[in-house]
Amino acid sequence: MESIASAPGKIILFGEHAVVYNQPAIAAAVDKRAVVSVKKSENNYTTLKSYDLGFEAILNTKEKSYELVSGKPGIIRYILEAFFNAHDHSPVDILLSLAFPVGSGLGSSAAVTVATLAALYGYHNKKFTKKTLAHNAYIVEKKVQGMASPLDTLISTNAGLIYLNRDKKVSRFKVDLKPTFVIGYTSKKRSTQKMVKKVSELRKRNPIVVDSIIQTMGLLTEEAKNAILKMDNDKIAQLLNINQGLLDSIGVNTVELSRMVFRARKYGASGAKITGAGGGGSMIAFCPNRSGEVYHSLKNRDNGLKVNISNEGIILKTRV
Ligand code: MEV
Repeated sequence: MESIASAPGKIILFGEHAVVYNQPAIAAAVDKRAVVSVKKSENNYTTLKSYDLGFEAILNTKEKSYELVSGKPGIIRYILEAFFNAHDHSPVDILLSLAFPVGSGLGSSAAVTVATLAALYGYHNKKFTKKTLAHNAYIVEKKVQGMASPLDTLISTNAGLIYLNRDKKVSRFKVDLKPTFVIGYTSKKRSTQKMVKKVSELRKRNPIVVDSIIQTMGLLTEEAKNAILKMDNDKIAQLLNINQGLLDSIGVNTVELSRMVFRARKYGASGAKITGAGGGGSMIAFCPNRSGEVYHSLKNRDNGLKVNISNEGIILKTRV
């Protein structure tokens, strides 16, 4: 029997960093997914292969350790932790596909963790709800990273366009944001923890100024919520650009991200900003009707990816 689960990556549209200080945020699942397949092994050991990520390893799920056969396994610790929590340690063959880069701020670890846990629940015929899946995936992420955002696993499980309010309550937008986004990602992986700490240090030295920027980011996210509800693309674009300026002002921008933001705008994006923690990672460009030009402009110089907001959360299939 083979159990196959897939889960989407995500982008933050508004409110990253401010959300750490209890301001609202808007995030969305995208149509780029992690797919994990688990099937009984014909050998007496567990293998993990990813053609997309170019690695192969033999896993000891009981000891949470691995032996590398080839390549570099960027995301293996999440898979090991998920297996440690949800598997009986019998030998299986695991196949991982990932349609977006690891460590680029697009929620690769959450998508891989959610898909791995769901594939294991399917393999063991274990019933689960989306709520428990998102929660258990959050626990796995927290164990691996020390700190994690519950929003990432929640979006990856449930998908859609989501508003997180000041009390951390999540609501789903009933409208669809149709235009394609273009993502530009840097080859520089960033640490979310490091960037969050950087902002907190800036805030300690400049409490009045930084607090007022964070509050402004919160107001901006509320305005963005209304603009999305009215499907006002011009206003959404303006707010994305203002948000970029505010993110720059708290020190999470880089030369590479800035170059991509301006390049995207030059080639037709009406709004462009960093998405996620910054300091590397990715930017998003909002480009109704111009996604082709913007995609090529980013792809020519850096790395580009076209994405749409997706309403497809976790999908689990089993086949005999
Ligand atoms: C990182 O994707 C988003 C941050 O706001 C951190 C967090 O919310 O955990 C920078």
